[in-house]
Amino acid sequence: MKMNRTQLYRKLHEAETGEWEALKQLADQSPWRQAFHIQPEAGLLNDPNGFSFFNGEYHLFYQWFPLGTQHGIKYWYHTSSTDLVHWNNKGIGMAPDTIYDSHGAYSGSAIEKDNLLYLMYTGNTRNTDWKRYPFQCMATMDQQGVITKLPPVIDKVPAGYTDHFRDPKVWQDGEYYYCVIGAQRIDQTGCAVLYQSPDLQEWTFQGELNTALPSFGYMWECPDYFELDQQGVFLFSPQGLATIGDQFQNIYQSGYMIGTPLDLNTRQFDHGEFYELDHGFDFYAPQTILAPDGRRLLVGWLGMPEIDYPTDTQGWAHCLTLPRELSIEDGQLRQRPVAELSQLRGQQSHVHHTVHHHRDLISSIEGIHYEMLIQISDIQADKVGIEVRVGTDEKTVLYYEPALEKLTLDRTLSGQSLALEYGTTRSCSLPLEEGIVTLHLFMDTSSIEVFVNDGRNVFTSRIFPQLNSTGFALFAEHGSACFDVTQWDLI
Ligand code: FRU
Repeated sequence: MKMNRTQLYRKLHEAETGEWEALKQLADQSPWRQAFHIQPEAGLLNDPNGFSFFNGEYHLFYQWFPLGTQHGIKYWYHTSSTDLVHWNNKGIGMAPDTIYDSHGAYSGSAIEKDNLLYLMYTGNTRNTDWKRYPFQCMATMDQQGVITKLPPVIDKVPAGYTDHFRDPKVWQDGEYYYCVIGAQRIDQTGCAVLYQSPDLQEWTFQGELNTALPSFGYMWECPDYFELDQQGVFLFSPQGLATIGDQFQNIYQSGYMIGTPLDLNTRQFDHGEFYELDHGFDFYAPQTILAPDGRRLLVGWLGMPEIDYPTDTQGWAHCLTLPRELSIEDGQLRQRPVAELSQLRGQQSHVHHTVHHHRDLISSIEGIHYEMLIQISDIQADKVGIEVRVGTDEKTVLYYEPALEKLTLDRTLSGQSLALEYGTTRSCSLPLEEGIVTLHLFMDTSSIEVFVNDGRNVFTSRIFPQLNSTGFALFAEHGSACFDVTQWDLI
């Protein structure tokens, strides 16, 4: 049942006695709880926020509505980790408890200065007529983990933009700090604007990022700018793009453009094409950080807005993606799972198998939580692929069609269905490299992340199969192919 506005804006401390415990218990009983992804104890998780390394640890917050599985009033929930693999739940980072964030502590980012971690975020407020007024707020976290809110640092939306003005991503360049903010122009087109500050307190509006996309959706959420290999990379999540072939199939998109580094004076960004970051069904609002060892890491929300999910009736919704390391190769971003994830590897199985005109169930390989490396070679067939989470009536299928040079993830039979109006397959084009397709999978209870051809493409999706759908199969239609499969049980 959908909640009404009063229910959606109830804060955690307004819960009835036992209500929160009951919700957690409900979530605990869900068959789809994840084993190695960041997920809420109960309630709804969305965007990753404040991803940072501070005081010897990674910190990763997320958008959180505690008392239901819809998008109600948002908190920042705090998690931390020393290895990007094992995350500690630290409890509420920030509650929507001031007049500047009364209707939600919305998304934002973090940066260290003078031994404090500064958290810059959007305070969402509404007046009695429900008109929205966004503030860009600031808080600090000290070495003890104590978070203190400061007065808002940007208290007006500049002329020319609507109240859809949010999600500051902050960075330092020389003696100045900068942030990009996702915005909507009065004419209902999306863009990002730039601010500059000498001290993280006084912020000056610089103007829009000048891109080659003057009319590209109606709102750009969660912008992120960084430099990698002397190139500028701008990530954002545009809303309102029409589907084009296999592209832009989800309700909203998330992608990037690579160019010459952003000119911070003219705000000119000369860039190439917009590419989607992920080809799966459930990926949105990613955020990156520069790790202390120089790696650029990305985490996204493993979910989509405005879609009903099967766990909505089970007291919890959504999780974050695994952290990925970014690099630029051949003019595009590559995303590889962070190396630290190999810590989770348990028992290993290996199969080398040639399939002829057939589908072969591989009895030695099965499971729910595993990592898997698959190399498909000698492809002499119309269609080759794998099936995971196979059960009596269930399977999640990944297949490659050499003639079309296309890879497809099919979740038509993945278990409980969702978002059917957006289709049940996702595809991307994939030229064969030396005649080989490689798939690197991370399977959790209710998600699949597939890194294709060493991170050239990624498919990230939720799936909701039964727990006894654990089988694994290989197939080659009208011909044959050779499969080399290594599987590691996880944790
Ligand atoms: C993206 C988003 C952000 C906003 C946050 C609110 O999913 O809509 O633009 O800050 O979620 O939870």
